[in-house]
Amino acid sequence: MKNYKVGVIGATGMVGQRLVTLLSNHPWFHIEVLAASGKSAGKTYENAVSGRWAMETEIPENVREMVVLDAEKDAEGIASVVDFVFCAVNMDKAATKALEEKYAKLECPVMSNNSANRGVSDVPMIIPEINPEHIEAVAAQKKRLGTKRGFISAKSNCSIQSYVPALHPLMKFGITKVLACTYQAISGAGKNFERWPEMVDNLIPYIGGEEEKSEKEPLKIWGKVENGEIINAVSPAITTQCLRVPVSDGHTAAVFVSFENKPSVEEIKKCWAEYKGEPQLLGLPSAPEHFLTYFEEPDRPQAKLDRNLEKGMGVSIGRLRPDSQYDYKFVSLSHNTLRGAAGGNVLMAELYAAKGYFD
Ligand SMILES: NC(=O)c1ccc[n+]([C@@H]2O[C@H](COP(=O)([O-])OP(=O)(O)OC[C@H]3O[C@@H](n4cnc5c(N)ncnc54)[C@H](OP(=O)(O)O)[C@@H]3O)[C@@H](O)[C@H]2O)c1
Repeated sequence: MKNYKVGVIGATGMVGQRLVTLLSNHPWFHIEVLAASGKSAGKTYENAVSGRWAMETEIPENVREMVVLDAEKDAEGIASVVDFVFCAVNMDKAATKALEEKYAKLECPVMSNNSANRGVSDVPMIIPEINPEHIEAVAAQKKRLGTKRGFISAKSNCSIQSYVPALHPLMKFGITKVLACTYQAISGAGKNFERWPEMVDNLIPYIGGEEEKSEKEPLKIWGKVENGEIINAVSPAITTQCLRVPVSDGHTAAVFVSFENKPSVEEIKKCWAEYKGEPQLLGLPSAPEHFLTYFEEPDRPQAKLDRNLEKGMGVSIGRLRPDSQYDYKFVSLSHNTLRGAAGGNVLMAELYAAKGYFD
């Protein structure tokens, strides 16, 4: 496999730090450029993240002294020295959309963590184990943007990665309706307890825009590509409530589900145990061996115990049982900055690399 030079846009943020950590030892991708806002530009990476480094491991040696560039002003220079960029920025939607399109039009593919382009019908929103075939829409997007190799691909919101993976293998039974309540970690807001002390011993029953994303995005993930456009699925009906909880990392979902053809508990567990996606079949470097793991213990999955399953790329499930209003209920968990953000983003980039999109 060829080695690719990559840039990380938003490298100083919570997701950016995870990306930098994951990429520092990556077998295919090599960090060539780090970029962030004008506030960080011109500083060494170590200085730019001083006082806000939130990873469990030290800042990787290979990036410590790298000078951070300005993602907007230095875009042309950045695009000319990398094969593609990862992008995880905290800017308003219009500015994020414009920044990502700018890189794509500079013929630099963008692997995005941001929501700004997720709703665009020719921008694939990929969970690599679930909808790798949506990559087909890139051809139509390139036509729209007038590019040869530049395009944008997004990963989905972190909240849905705690329950859509568990529901996906069950779609063959005709899921009719889903109710999901998510209990989301504070790193999902780019924070830790030091920087968000109000979250200690607290719960906030509101995460702006999250319920809308949690209800809409699964329908794009389960959509079909027709004439270069991703046409959203029309079912199942999904309703959600998203709460911020005092957990550092790991989004948990309490899920209720009904089916057209109700499977047995054993059939559901078998589907989860046997499910493999394209990353497992292709042996991509960041692919977990087991995408889904079911715990029989009644008190699992737990955020603290299980979020790092399969290096934070596995999804844990437990407490499957019949429900009085829906057919079944269960609990599932995924690491929000690994599977739900940086790790999922790197896995998506590996899928594009394996299919030759960065050559
Ligand atoms: N945290 C999660 O679990 C998670 C999960 C999925 C998706 N996401 C998405 O990932 C993105 C980043 O989230 P985060 O939690 O990492 O945010 P964050 O910690 O607030 O970091 C934001 C990053 O954006 C940069 N930035 C801000 N304004 C900029 C500008 N004008 N030009 C270039 N860079 C700019 C910041 O640079 P400076 O340091 O220079 O200000 C920083 O590097 C968001 O779109 C978020 O919705 C986050």
